[in-house]
Amino acid sequence: MDERAEKRGHVLVVPYPSQGHINPTLQFSRRLVSKGVKATLAITNYIFKTFKPTSDGHVGLATISDGYDEGSFASAGSVDTYLDRMEAAGSQTLGDLIEAYAVTPHPITCLIYDSFFPWALDVAKKYGLVGGPFFTQACAVNYTYFLIHHGKLNVPPSSVPVEIPGLPPLEVGDLPSFVGSPESYPAYLRLVVNQNINLDKADFVLVNTYYELEDKVVNTMSRECPTPLLTIGPTVPSLYLDNKIEDDKDYGLNLFYLGSIDRITHWLSTKPPKSVVYVSFGSMACLPDTQMEELARGLKACGHDFLWVVRASEEDKLPSSFAEEVRQSGLLVRWSPQLEVLANEAIGCFFTHCGWNSTVEALALGVPMIGMPQWTDQPMNAKLIQDVWKVGVRVKVDKDGLVTREEIEDRIKEVMVGERGEEIRENAKRWRDLTNNAYSQGGSSDRMITEFVSKVVES
Ligand code: UDX
Repeated sequence: MDERAEKRGHVLVVPYPSQGHINPTLQFSRRLVSKGVKATLAITNYIFKTFKPTSDGHVGLATISDGYDEGSFASAGSVDTYLDRMEAAGSQTLGDLIEAYAVTPHPITCLIYDSFFPWALDVAKKYGLVGGPFFTQACAVNYTYFLIHHGKLNVPPSSVPVEIPGLPPLEVGDLPSFVGSPESYPAYLRLVVNQNINLDKADFVLVNTYYELEDKVVNTMSRECPTPLLTIGPTVPSLYLDNKIEDDKDYGLNLFYLGSIDRITHWLSTKPPKSVVYVSFGSMACLPDTQMEELARGLKACGHDFLWVVRASEEDKLPSSFAEEVRQSGLLVRWSPQLEVLANEAIGCFFTHCGWNSTVEALALGVPMIGMPQWTDQPMNAKLIQDVWKVGVRVKVDKDGLVTREEIEDRIKEVMVGERGEEIRENAKRWRDLTNNAYSQGGSSDRMITEFVSKVVES
């Protein structure tokens, strides 16, 4: 490590142990390293043992325990049980890790923790460190939970539409699912609202968005939040934006097997520009069997080639012989190098569950979206995509809760070839440029990160 980095402090970053939280914290850590800071990502023993990640040569890796070293989250039985044990084991082992670094030439000077772990601030303060949460999701989503925490919004809302700055009036189906349908996910509702615990004692609040994307809600939340709010996104590798960070071509820390890269890139190389529909529902969403069948039939009928990520755990839901039926037009894979795929010129649109990372990645690469949100923050992200940035459309759900094959086919055609598709493509290009500007040297997020390093990490 160079001398400059030594001077700029050592940040320990603790993500929630899931793909959608590890990716953005890893990318943000790389940004910090590019500013001369030493950064170490503390992942759980289970992830370390199971996926055997190796350091990328920039960000260090360390481990803590969530209390489930052998069996991960899945073995906990319930979200509440997992979070309780995570807090007990996490506090202890995080403290041990900070103590272990204290006797090295690079003691930890700053703790950044996933906003799902508000207890981590107590650990930071016990060791005299500056610390604050990293909010993975959109500011509009965080602000919704902030209002609930402060008793300014009821769950479920006592009246609709709900007003959130920068968004059109929101109906129940536009709100995060934990708010719109709280009976389905009470433990998750507690988790997301509890992100606001300890906020007043934190030294900073990092939000994985950028100012241009959500200016109104960022302004509002900055005024109401007791602690300085810093927007530091997009957390997309430099390679896909200003290409200033050396050696940036890696695939991050994947919790799924990335065995099909060559097959995917070869297949895409045989397709004309903007001709392929990329389909992915991220790392967690599970579609009901009937919905999977409608999606399969809609994709087959849409008349465009498609690359569909069907995770191994979802494969049994595919109609039998589907892979054979679509041999000419479709490629089914278990996981993809998503950024590389989105950056490929053959991709015409992204059929997505609207996870926040997927959303921002598509924005950064100027890819139009068709949103089919499933749960958590995704409905609100879909609202932003369709009605605020106008870079995509959202599918409609029928009276039985199903998105039909006809609806899927129609929305794909609308975005790929229709007049509305033309407008959406223009908007997507504009947002790609705005995203690049926010990230690049002197852009809104770059300035925030520089300020964060000089005022918080170094001080
Ligand atoms: C979860 C939530 O569901 C999401 O809504 C929230 O905002 C973050 O945590 P996930 O569902 O996995 O995440 O979706 P998303 O946020 O889109 O993150 C998925 C990540 O995995 C993205 O960075 C994406 O690039 C990556 N990915 C996904 C791949 O690299 N390959 C794939 O095949 C699919």
